[in-house]
Amino acid sequence: MTQRPKARTTARPLAVVVLAAGESKRFKSDTPKVLHDLCGRPLLGWVLDAIAPLKPARTVVVVGRAAEAVEAAATRLTKTTPQFARQLKLLGTADAARTADEVLGDHDGDVLIVSGDTPLLTTATLRALLKHHLKTGAKATVLSATLADPTGYGRVVRSSDGALEKIVEHADASDWQRQISEINAGVYVFDRTALHASLDKVGARNKQKEFYLPDVLSILREVGEPIEARMSADADEIRGVNDRAQLAEAATLIRAATNARLMADGVTLTDPTFTTIDPTVRVGRDTIIHAPTFLHGSTVIGARCQIGPGARIIDSTVGDDATVVFSTLDQAVVGPEASVGPYAYLRPGARLKRKAKVGTFVEVKNSTIGEGSKVPHLSYVGDADVGKDVNVGAATVTVNYDNETKIKARTVIGDGARIGSDTMLIAPVKVGKRALTGAGSVVTHDVAPDTLVYGNPARPARLRKRTTGKPTTDNKGGSK
Ligand code: UD1
Ligand code: CA
Repeated sequence: MTQRPKARTTARPLAVVVLAAGESKRFKSDTPKVLHDLCGRPLLGWVLDAIAPLKPARTVVVVGRAAEAVEAAATRLTKTTPQFARQLKLLGTADAARTADEVLGDHDGDVLIVSGDTPLLTTATLRALLKHHLKTGAKATVLSATLADPTGYGRVVRSSDGALEKIVEHADASDWQRQISEINAGVYVFDRTALHASLDKVGARNKQKEFYLPDVLSILREVGEPIEARMSADADEIRGVNDRAQLAEAATLIRAATNARLMADGVTLTDPTFTTIDPTVRVGRDTIIHAPTFLHGSTVIGARCQIGPGARIIDSTVGDDATVVFSTLDQAVVGPEASVGPYAYLRPGARLKRKAKVGTFVEVKNSTIGEGSKVPHLSYVGDADVGKDVNVGAATVTVNYDNETKIKARTVIGDGARIGSDTMLIAPVKVGKRALTGAGSVVTHDVAPDTLVYGNPARPARLRKRTTGKPTTDNKGGSK
């Protein structure tokens, strides 16, 4: 007989256990499953994010395969200080829980157990589960959900009066049990004492010869302790990621939610299906994102921008009214009204000021391109400070690396300078304000302001005065 549960009114100390030791057989990967990326965050990060707001007294992560890597990631991914329990042999989820139980020491209260592979779980759902557990006074409460296709999940078996009886794994389920659409989400709250007392009683006489954590529920029921199953409001949330197809399905759900939120906030997505935006990315109003486009990490896009088609932007900032077409940006900063692409590559430390333009087949790294300055085509700008209103002609290269000394050096180009096509700027070198370099110049020495240099090595030209008053030589020349 099941005892009449006594409702508790006050929450008790909470410990959270994350099961993340598994073999991940179905993933067929050299990387532990929980470290695989899902929309910019490892699976484990999503789970740790969901539990952090519960402010548990302690968090224990059960690790096994690639333990050091998972421990390092867990520590990096959460502000709280997780404890680790190393499961030496992966004998099943009950064995994993037993390993965690040893680390829980004298913890007296409740234990929330979640899997490292259910990244869509929300804090709200966990709170609802904890509330139900508290309200009913159950010794164990399992989260369940109804799925159209329950294949692979443990099925929730209820008796004729609707009470939870046991959970049967898919592998062990009879034909009629496989018809059950209510499944075990793999999320549980246990009374610590009851859990501790039951774990040793779990056997491994089943198809998989594993110690199943869900067996704790029927073990408690048999000794008359109250157990509960609480249905999740959202069936998508409990999806487990056991293989790469399920990883892609989870990503699709997260992307759809992110895209819907952005569109509701006033961002146009020309084709949301082919638009990949991490949930961490921010986009301003009236920006138009042309598919396909990929926005990742800490990227912030301003208002009224034109992004894509073909933009891949990682951890970068793009100002208001800017344009980025068929280009890759990684840790770059693009100012307002600036224009990037088509086919530009902005590498870490690239900073474009207001109205700057970086055009076709141009790579910029660790350099500032000043306000209104243009690098329109076929150039490499690395370790350079380019001033305002500069024009850099096609095929210009900042030669920033000395192969002999292995030293990288900077190029400085003053405001209003005109760099002729195919200029090689051998760093360290400075080009003064309003200076000019002729086409094909190899600039090995600093160029004084208002001077024209040309040749290899570039030397100052004796300037002829044109009637226009502009200095000129035979081979000065840029490209437009
Ligand atoms: C488990 C449940 C199943 C439920 C499903 C929900 C069991 C026996 N089955 O099945 O009822 O429907 O989750 O997603 O629990 N792990 C360890 N050590 C081990 C084995 C597993 O830490 O020895 C970890 C895994 O890394 C994983 C989690 O426990 O994060 C669940 O294990 P998994 O093998 O994915 O269980 P499922 O077959 O999905
Ligand atoms: Ca799983």
